[in-house]
Amino acid sequence: MTDSSSSARVTRAVIIGTGHYLPERVVENAEFEKTIDTSDEWIRSRSGIERRHFAAEDETTSDLATHAAQAALRDAGIEANDIDAIVLATSTADLTFPSAATMVQARLGMERGFAFDVQAVCAGFIFALSNANALIVSGQARRVMVIGAETFSRIMDWSDRGTCVLFGDGAGAVILEAQPGTGETSDRGILATDLHSDGRFRDILYVDGGVSTQSTGFLRMQGREVFRHAVEKLASTAQASLEKAGMTADQVDWVVPHQANIRIISGTAKKLGLPMERVVVTVQDHGNTSAASIPLALSVGRARGQIKTGDVVVTEAIGGGLAWGSVLLRW
Ligand code: UT7
Repeated sequence: MTDSSSSARVTRAVIIGTGHYLPERVVENAEFEKTIDTSDEWIRSRSGIERRHFAAEDETTSDLATHAAQAALRDAGIEANDIDAIVLATSTADLTFPSAATMVQARLGMERGFAFDVQAVCAGFIFALSNANALIVSGQARRVMVIGAETFSRIMDWSDRGTCVLFGDGAGAVILEAQPGTGETSDRGILATDLHSDGRFRDILYVDGGVSTQSTGFLRMQGREVFRHAVEKLASTAQASLEKAGMTADQVDWVVPHQANIRIISGTAKKLGLPMERVVVTVQDHGNTSAASIPLALSVGRARGQIKTGDVVVTEAIGGGLAWGSVLLRW
């Protein structure tokens, strides 16, 4: 929230590093033509996806996450033990427990602090970022690594053409640091967050298995139904974050949306009144990587030279639950 007093001292969670990792194996749309009744043309025109990465047989979510975290540490120029906490968003952790976050903590050589997973499917990174912000603003942590990492290839039904062509594997990470702010929107750091869920929509996007039902299960989605909710809910949550901060869409330099479908991405930008030139788009190369999609896009957007220090960025995502939300920040 904006503070009317310009001398007010507040703590802001500022991004000081980003990194990402994509598994080596790239699968082009055309590969699916060999096994199911689909076409490169259908996948491209209906989703915007051209290719995606799939993890190797022996590669797990915490492996992907560790690579992304190491890249973010290098980018920030700090060591693992300079971090107080790791919040990792995933729906495809290596094991039922311990959390993927604690596995990453050990792999990074981090011998202090705490680490835990957050599960809000495709909106997972938004929920993790919002929770990390709360840890920093409340003084419970000074530096937090926020990771989104997934191996959705493990929960694909390869005979279901309505889902298996859409998802990919990957990981992205950002490091947040507590820095003093004035309470004005000119501050760097997270300016507003907005989270929602509505469990009544469970059946339009879910996995039909899990520990308590003694199976692994496959992802099931009523794509058209999810699509129907997506544009409206994403635009309204982005708008809500802007309103909480006392800002308007024309002040936004970059929209970094969840990368599920180019038609959802462009429909949401249009609703916000923002041109596609101000949207970071990676869906063509990554497919839908669930909780990894936003940190991947943030890291790629930085590497491309799109997002610069001082830019206003709004990120938004929706997924199974339904769960959705947005984070507004100044880089
Ligand atoms: O990240 C979590 C959030 N998830 C999403 O945001 C996904 C939201 N949904 C979507 O992105 C889109 O709904 C899809 C890309 C999944 C599907 O696009 P659509 O334009 O909504 O297509 P549709 O589901 O209405 O299907 C149109 C037709 C159907 O055939 P009929 O019933 O019209 O004869 C499907 O059977 O396309 C057919 N179809 C395919 N055809 C070729 C479905 N999948 C395929 C396929 N190849 N892979």
